[in-house]
Amino acid sequence: MKRIGILTRDCAGVNAAIRSVVRTADFFGIEVMGVLRGYEGLISGDFIPLSRRSVSGIINLGGTILKTSRSKKFFTETGQKYALQNIKKNQLDGFIVIGGNGSLSGAHILAKKYNIPTIGIPATIDNDVNGVDLSLGADTAVNVAMDAIDKIRDTAMSLERIFVIEVMGRDCGYIAMQVALAGGCEEALVPEKDFDLDEMCAQIIEGNAKGKVSWIIVVAEGKAKASAIASAITEKTGLETRVAVLGHIQRGGNPTALDRVMAARLGSYAVNLLYKGKSNLCVALKDGNLTTIPLEIAIQPKRIDVESDYALIKLLT
Ligand code: F6P
Repeated sequence: MKRIGILTRDCAGVNAAIRSVVRTADFFGIEVMGVLRGYEGLISGDFIPLSRRSVSGIINLGGTILKTSRSKKFFTETGQKYALQNIKKNQLDGFIVIGGNGSLSGAHILAKKYNIPTIGIPATIDNDVNGVDLSLGADTAVNVAMDAIDKIRDTAMSLERIFVIEVMGRDCGYIAMQVALAGGCEEALVPEKDFDLDEMCAQIIEGNAKGKVSWIIVVAEGKAKASAIASAITEKTGLETRVAVLGHIQRGGNPTALDRVMAARLGSYAVNLLYKGKSNLCVALKDGNLTTIPLEIAIQPKRIDVESDYALIKLLT
């Protein structure tokens, strides 16, 4: 194995993983080509050589030094034809893809359909890669959201207000559940669980009667718009509400120590697997140990069981 390619999505921890991949590959005498702008760059042949030195000083940076994109083209036969040509032209013997479901689906195509040795590294703030406990970026996102909620709590308590805070999570309530617990929030509305607006409003009215005057309700973007929930609460309770949509700040920021350590381990492990001739796998940590999951499993929809955490949120309210 002489040369491999690396392509990424963006979130905290991705740069630390690039660094780990490049330096581990260097240890084995393998060159690394970085693909710019994700699968779009693979199709257009936009590659840059990465060296031990070119990845210095990036371990603490959010985003991805390689830039990224959402590519529809790669999921067409024509897009794949050009991507394959570029892989051959650059004499890549293997590939590492860092990202969430979309990126890993592309990795699965490279491995299964085109026989390019490919290993995936899970990286998505949604933490929705199937079979993976924790993806890169998710811990940082939770910490960013928690920090924002702590600040909102200061003003919510002072003005005795109800806040509805929208966090990211298209199909997965991971961030919402985690920040609701970490931020001491009263309610978490997530795609994995039905909720009853009337019951929630009854609880608010009952709580207020007992002197509980400030509420923080977290809603995952995939469940509902915070503005719609806030209006409905005002309509049903007559109480004033405020809304905060945390948005893309959750995907940025310097990676937490946990994300950096995980990036170091997963990046290095991915190169080791390629070196040993493995392919079509996603690396992960399970109970603190390095493990792999077939890419075809990793890209299936993930459902998290929220019941016990939800019960705990309500118990601690
Ligand atoms: O990376 C996952 C995610 O951040 C989701 O939480 C969110 O729904 C989506 O990406 C936003 O995508 P974009 O950056 O393309 O608006």
